Amino acid sequence: MDHHAELLGKIDRREACVAVLGLGYVGLPLVRAFARAGLPTIGFDIDQNKIDALNAGRDYLQHPAPGLAKELLCSGRFGATSDPKDLTHADALLVCVPTPLDDNREPDLSYVERTIDTIASVLTPGRLVILESTTYPGTTRDIVLPRLERANLRCGRDVFVAFSPEREDPGSPGRSTRSIPKLVGGIDDASTQLATALYRTAIETVVPVSCAEVAEAAKLLENVYRSVNIALVNEMKLILEKLGIDPLEVIDAAATKPFGFQRFDPGPGLGGHCIPIDPYYLAWRARQAGIDARFIELAGEINCAMPAHVVARLEEALRQRASTIDNADVLVLGLAYKKNIDDVRESPSAEIIRLLKGANARVAYSDPHIAKTHPGRRTDLAMQSVELTPERLARADAVIIATDHDAFDWDMVAAHARLIVDTRGKMRTVADVRGEVVSA
Ligand SMILES: NC(=O)c1ccc[n+]([C@@H]2O[C@H](COP(=O)([O-])OP(=O)(O)OC[C@H]3O[C@@H](n4cnc5c(N)ncnc54)[C@H](O)[C@@H]3O)[C@@H](O)[C@H]2O)c1
Repeated sequence: MDHHAELLGKIDRREACVAVLGLGYVGLPLVRAFARAGLPTIGFDIDQNKIDALNAGRDYLQHPAPGLAKELLCSGRFGATSDPKDLTHADALLVCVPTPLDDNREPDLSYVERTIDTIASVLTPGRLVILESTTYPGTTRDIVLPRLERANLRCGRDVFVAFSPEREDPGSPGRSTRSIPKLVGGIDDASTQLATALYRTAIETVVPVSCAEVAEAAKLLENVYRSVNIALVNEMKLILEKLGIDPLEVIDAAATKPFGFQRFDPGPGLGGHCIPIDPYYLAWRARQAGIDARFIELAGEINCAMPAHVVARLEEALRQRASTIDNADVLVLGLAYKKNIDDVRESPSAEIIRLLKGANARVAYSDPHIAKTHPGRRTDLAMQSVELTPERLARADAVIIATDHDAFDWDMVAAHARLIVDTRGKMRTVADVRGEVVSA
């Protein structure tokens, strides 16, 4: 039987059933994109709470989109499950599980391996398996493929395997899974062709590349590019602050150049599941090949040092007021790693809070998107968001602006905070600031 032609026909007729494994920030919008395109879809996750929520039409992530669970439920083209047996109905299986770092800051592919083993246990001929989790070049061919071929199926003939990186931009309006161009690289040409055809049902622009390794490496280049440029503006900020020059005014000025300069803004450090982590996947792979990824390591070093810089700026400002951080009441605005989202993964705010607590400050946070903290992989802050009121602001010895959520009342902050450590340049946009502002 010609499995390739059969699957291509099913995709063209929009009859191919798409299973998305891992229903988090990446998997959920992806499964919705295929359901919207009219394909039958399955959502698979090992977290039964998520499955129950989806089958009840209940959202568990504020972002990517409120109402997503209900939309899926009402589409009549979606079912959520944690039972691997249900995956036997799937023609295409898309893997969107975490790819964190281990304690040695090296790739932890255990989630990917476990998910691929689940797929292998139900795999039959004529299926397409696509890895979407960010990883180092070679993962799809060296880690995924052998585990699938253990099921006595040959790639390119019985099963088809590709890599297609995810480029979600959480919290940015105007961009969606459908509108962001999608790279696709297969283990062989047949796999690239099938994966390209599949994504074209749901995504406006699909860009096939010559192989899985190109797609894997392109994703890492995109994230290394961001990490290095953010480190550059963060270093620039440290230098300019010391020279008494306003870093943001310098960046505004440089950004008037219409070519050869792309604007990046400094901040309290890096956050999210991508930029602080993915570059180390490439650095690890480079080390295996005998190359020292110096740019990546240096950028990581500079960006990771930013929370300590913020706390140092606060200490300096308190000292100038004949005060100390010991027992100071510090209110941190924003726990999410970037504005207008509820994602706290690797958030610099958590590190700032940890450092403040270590210095014996009395710390509270306010974040309209995160009512309370949950135990993370490395930290358990065990805190609840406080309501932002004029009284609470006035009571604080210092307010640190860590995340510039639009939902904050910035005029109120400017009117009532006595000392503001501003890591986002937010107070530059407010006309009347009563207290002292320290940029950091
Ligand atoms: N969040 C982003 O903005 C973003 C952007 C681009 C790429 N990525 C990449 O996409 C991948 C997924 O990231 P995410 O942010 O969606 O993660 P997430 O933590 O939000 O979601 C991952 C989901 O996978 C599930 N899971 C874990 N093990 C599983 C298994 N064995 N079988 C099935 N499900 C399992 C978890 O329960 C969770 O629901 C990562 O590689 C990440 O680097 C993320």
